[in-house]
Amino acid sequence: MFKGLYIIIILLTLYGCLNSVQTAPETEVELGKLLFFDKMLSSDHSISCASCHKPEFAFADTMKFSLGVDGQKGVRNTPSSMNMASRPFFFYDGRAATIEEQVLVPIHNPVEMDLPVPELLERLRGSHYKAWFEKTYNKQPDSTNLSAALGAFVFSLESPGDTPFDKWMQGDEKAMTEQQIAGREIFNEKAKCFDCHFGPDFTGDEFRNIGLFNGSDSLNEAGRFGITGDLDDLGKMKVPGLRNIAVTGPYMHNGMFETLEEVVEFYDNPETFVKNAINRDTLVQEPLNLTEEEKEYLVAFMHALTDSSYADKTIKK
Ligand code: HEC
Ligand code: HEC
Repeated sequence: MFKGLYIIIILLTLYGCLNSVQTAPETEVELGKLLFFDKMLSSDHSISCASCHKPEFAFADTMKFSLGVDGQKGVRNTPSSMNMASRPFFFYDGRAATIEEQVLVPIHNPVEMDLPVPELLERLRGSHYKAWFEKTYNKQPDSTNLSAALGAFVFSLESPGDTPFDKWMQGDEKAMTEQQIAGREIFNEKAKCFDCHFGPDFTGDEFRNIGLFNGSDSLNEAGRFGITGDLDDLGKMKVPGLRNIAVTGPYMHNGMFETLEEVVEFYDNPETFVKNAINRDTLVQEPLNLTEEEKEYLVAFMHALTDSSYADKTIKK
């Protein structure tokens, strides 16, 4: 008589086992991935890291300023969280020196996830994460292993090196168009982009001031100066990498440019966009006098920096 019931119980148990086999993370990176996508990391369970760092847009946001809990707006544009593994510091002003330090900041930031880390740890200890942390670290969730897991996932988000540019560099002459090849030349020479955006990820990991700070109400981000207090650092921001740049607009720390075309117009003559810039780098002092064609080629080159998985996501004017 109870046979049917037994079968149901056995099936349910099996289902439960299978389910936990499917979802229990095998590695630190997998644990970090589950945390990155979990809204439990915010006070009202509404926001995950991925709410702002959207995987379909190379882990950046398409809004000028992302929304945190209660629809609050931050003050800086959300950058891609990809290609972080070689970075010596994090955030536009470089205020975090390690990825473990960085990943805890958005959790307790009142306009982002607004959840004190001790509270999150209590939540985690009272949930399925407890067993998963114990399996991964032989320890209950604490701030050290929480940041280790999140950091490991962020550092796993490296571009695979399959962009048209990478293939071209490896000798596939057809991988970039004529325009993109011409754009690379302009990027490296006439437009001087390469002087700041160099290396495998197109950043020299320095703080530079391209002239987006003039002390007015709308352009008052003092950048690195806020951390060091050194007048020489006024208006300096970390040079962002440019991989997947065609899918991560809007651009700059304040999201002031919608498109790459606008970014190029800006560099061509910064003065027409921002008057009285303070402490602007000598490299961006004189107009570049790019022709319309040269501007197009530069933009085309930046489109060649898109990983194959985002090729259909590039943002055009
Ligand atoms: C509400 C939106 C929002 C949420 C949620 C959020 N971030 Fe961010 N993230 C940002 C913004 C904005 C910045 C840039 C802030 C700055 O430079 O001051 C940033 C910067 C970063 C950076 C540094 C990028 C660089 O170029 O230096 C990393 C890495 C990162 N976030 C990872 C995470 C992780 C991990 C989480 C979840 C624990 C998270 N973020 C949650 C908006 C968000
Ligand atoms: C003096 C160094 C310097 C030079 C030269 C330079 N850049 Fe930049 N670039 C930066 C810095 C610093 C930022 C970030 C500024 C900010 O957000 O306030 C940036 C931001 C960008 C961004 C936006 C990145 C993002 O994620 O929002 C793009 C695109 C870009 N640069 C492309 C170029 C191109 C194209 C050239 C050449 C025409 C160029 N840069 C020349 C330093 C430089």
